[in-house]
Amino acid sequence: MTDQKQRKAVKLSDYEPPAFEVETVDLHFQLTEDCARVRTRMHLHRADGVDLHEPLHLHGEALELEALYLDGQPLAMDDFLLTRQGLSIERVPDRFELEVHTLLRPQDNTSLSGLYRSGGNFCTQCEAEGFRRITYFPDRPDVLSRFTTTIEADRQRYPVLLSNGDLVDSGDAGEGRHWVKWVDPWPKPSYLFALVAGDLHCHQDTYRTRSGRDVQLEFYVEHENANRTGHAMESLKKAMRWDEDTYGLEYDLDTYMVVAVGDFNMGAMENKGLNIFNTQYVLASPETATDADFEAVEAVIGHEYFHNYTGNRVTCRDWFQLSLKEGLTVFREQQFSEDMGSPAVQRIQQVRLLRSAQFPEDASPMAHPVRPESYVEINNFYTATVYIKGAEVIRMYHTLLGDAVFRQGVKRYLERFDGQAVTIEDFRQTLAETGGRDLGQFGRWYSQTGTPRVRVRDEFDPARGRYTLHISQSCPPTPDQAEKKPFHIPVAVGLLGRDGQALSLRLSGESVAEGTTRVLELTGSEQQFTFEGLAERPVPSLLRGFSAPVILEYDYDDDDLAFLLAHDNDPFARWEAGQQLALRVILRRVQGQASPNDSRQVIQAFQQVLEAPDLDPSLAAEALALPQEAYLAQHMDPADPVAIRAAREALRTELAQALASQWRDTYRRYRPEGPWRLDADHIAGRRLANLALGYLGATGAAEDNGLVQQQYHRADNMTDSLAALALLADREDEAAVTALDDFYQRWRQTPLVLDKWFRVQAMSRHPRVVERVQALVQHPDFDLRNPNRVRAVIGAFAQGNPAAFHDDSGTGYRLLAAHVIRLDAINPQVAARMALPLSKWQRYDASRQKMMKNELQRIADAPSLSNDVYEVVSRSLE
Ligand code: PHE
Ligand code: ZN
Repeated sequence: MTDQKQRKAVKLSDYEPPAFEVETVDLHFQLTEDCARVRTRMHLHRADGVDLHEPLHLHGEALELEALYLDGQPLAMDDFLLTRQGLSIERVPDRFELEVHTLLRPQDNTSLSGLYRSGGNFCTQCEAEGFRRITYFPDRPDVLSRFTTTIEADRQRYPVLLSNGDLVDSGDAGEGRHWVKWVDPWPKPSYLFALVAGDLHCHQDTYRTRSGRDVQLEFYVEHENANRTGHAMESLKKAMRWDEDTYGLEYDLDTYMVVAVGDFNMGAMENKGLNIFNTQYVLASPETATDADFEAVEAVIGHEYFHNYTGNRVTCRDWFQLSLKEGLTVFREQQFSEDMGSPAVQRIQQVRLLRSAQFPEDASPMAHPVRPESYVEINNFYTATVYIKGAEVIRMYHTLLGDAVFRQGVKRYLERFDGQAVTIEDFRQTLAETGGRDLGQFGRWYSQTGTPRVRVRDEFDPARGRYTLHISQSCPPTPDQAEKKPFHIPVAVGLLGRDGQALSLRLSGESVAEGTTRVLELTGSEQQFTFEGLAERPVPSLLRGFSAPVILEYDYDDDDLAFLLAHDNDPFARWEAGQQLALRVILRRVQGQASPNDSRQVIQAFQQVLEAPDLDPSLAAEALALPQEAYLAQHMDPADPVAIRAAREALRTELAQALASQWRDTYRRYRPEGPWRLDADHIAGRRLANLALGYLGATGAAEDNGLVQQQYHRADNMTDSLAALALLADREDEAAVTALDDFYQRWRQTPLVLDKWFRVQAMSRHPRVVERVQALVQHPDFDLRNPNRVRAVIGAFAQGNPAAFHDDSGTGYRLLAAHVIRLDAINPQVAARMALPLSKWQRYDASRQKMMKNELQRIADAPSLSNDVYEVVSRSLE
């Protein structure tokens, strides 16, 4: 057991402003093959009103302290107190200079936090608390300082030396070494510091801002990836233009640099002027990246760029406020993606992700509010709740205030708090003030955990032509909160006439009908809303555009759903109707209550979508995809992932066979002709054709199986190649073995593509997939030190293949636990993330619960567990 003190929770209610401010930090890095030496000189002063006797505390972890000087005087060992968490000096003047010399070992740093090595280069990751692994420092987001960085390294091995801000000087350091000096003019918290040293290819371009300044854009990648940065560069330029056009925000340095590294714990990092990215979100070429990868690159490039204001210029006071920057930046990223592509498709994909990743989290022992109140390890709170539920909360502000007022509010927030570290409350107050509205109750979205249920009941009074919606809300208790108060929920609704036309809406008290969508504001636990002037009972279209992150309950019958799928003028609601219809049919089948009529109705509805004269191929591809297994499981208690898989597959097979000729037609018609292009038409065509191919893979007809093989072998792009490979990986025949082997031979030297090879196998519906995964973790190319590879195998299996992971034998659970324990010694952050599927044990039957808890206990009992994994398993077992 590790000492109890180390496990102490940090609480929001304990927040205290910093006692000392750091005006300037001057860092000097000396990088060598076996260690790095860092000399830090900083100017500090006591904050206003802080007691003279208040000691100075600096964070520091995994460091060797070599020397310490206060105002030029060396400090002796008994002048300060050194612990595993940091250093304190009892008596310091009001203003002073501190110089700290530390020694670190980046080559042994497998946690990928602080200064570490990736592919022979040096790089850093400082968010949230990595800077304290570089030097002793008040490593908290509300200490903002001006940074100067000098880097000295071997010239041949590390020709490229980068840090934040502007390059101001460079020179020769003798003995084949060189040095450079960077100055960042913008004060920033330490979590935004970055350094890179390596032998890297640079793709350069320029961007002219709307005020006419030229900004240098630079992408740094390993030489073999030199030809895969074009899309990221174009995406960056689009993002810069978009932020100027939409929010009036212009870039504020002369250079914007992005470095891609193969070993990275997360997606990417918004360090000031020097983003560091997981290669996954930079590199893209048609042979190696799917359309979805191209889109993800654009979105993540946008996300990190948008942080330059929402995150960097205005940052967080403390880590409880993480969603202040992340929720807002994800929302801005979503708006950007909607503007670059199809808003409806984007919205559908956002909701799919929310339901498959955030809803389960909100119903698990790890549930926490968008603004958490305590944590043991902050790295465990970079979650779907903070990021994507946080973005949904921002979207609701946008819905309630309207686009123009919302944008004005964001601008005012950025102006008012420029250069400061602030709170979620500061943001809410600025928006409320801008909109002239009381958003007090709205604050509960930040403090209350759990997914609210919104129940709708309706009644029609034919004599008076009045239609009334009774809307109520409730929120189930969560481990942290037994009782919830009502939320402020925007419920967007429309009404359809029996002819399928959207009706103009007039609420009681209004004189004229206006618009076909209305946002009803639910603030009480139960309210009614009455529409007037209706000739007949309408079909309600509820929660249009998914206007709030809630679970909607309304007793539609199957015919209503089919009707909405055919007619609803809100594309999200239309898609949702089809999903609900399929969901019901699958669940009835799981319960052994399926009637032949059930599948007939889904088949008919799907056929209508396929044969619609105005078919939009990318929307159709969303409508024709069955609900995900993870979402289906939320509607079953206890969830039986094996039965869900079987029922979903059975319906898929029926759809495949009943509509075989339509799938074949669709495949032929929409598969793009000629060479690969990344335009909307080709992307949509590939998406629909590959969806059709997916169904064809399930018809069982030799001709269709042949088509899958043919596509694999003839594809000139990764989208088509991988779509076919994934279908082949479900099979056990010779063709499957040949294709997998071919893919491996072709791509074994290309890590991001090899990840795909691992992932399709870990996620396959192959009957002996568990055995396969056991073989994959023994594969010479499997490497626990590389997070992308770990996610491609362990993550894909445990999160992306529920029927296999929850195999009755418990083998899946054992495999996961064993790897969490091994990985914890290497990379605690990633290990803790991998452990999460086990935390959801409550959702399953007694036998699975027991096995899952046993594995959690086995992890909990492992010696010298990290705080990260400790927090996940201990909360799960509470
Ligand atoms: N702040 C990064 C982002 O969302 C995510 C991140 C967190 C990266 C922690 C690394 C470490 O853009
Ligand atoms: Zn972010």
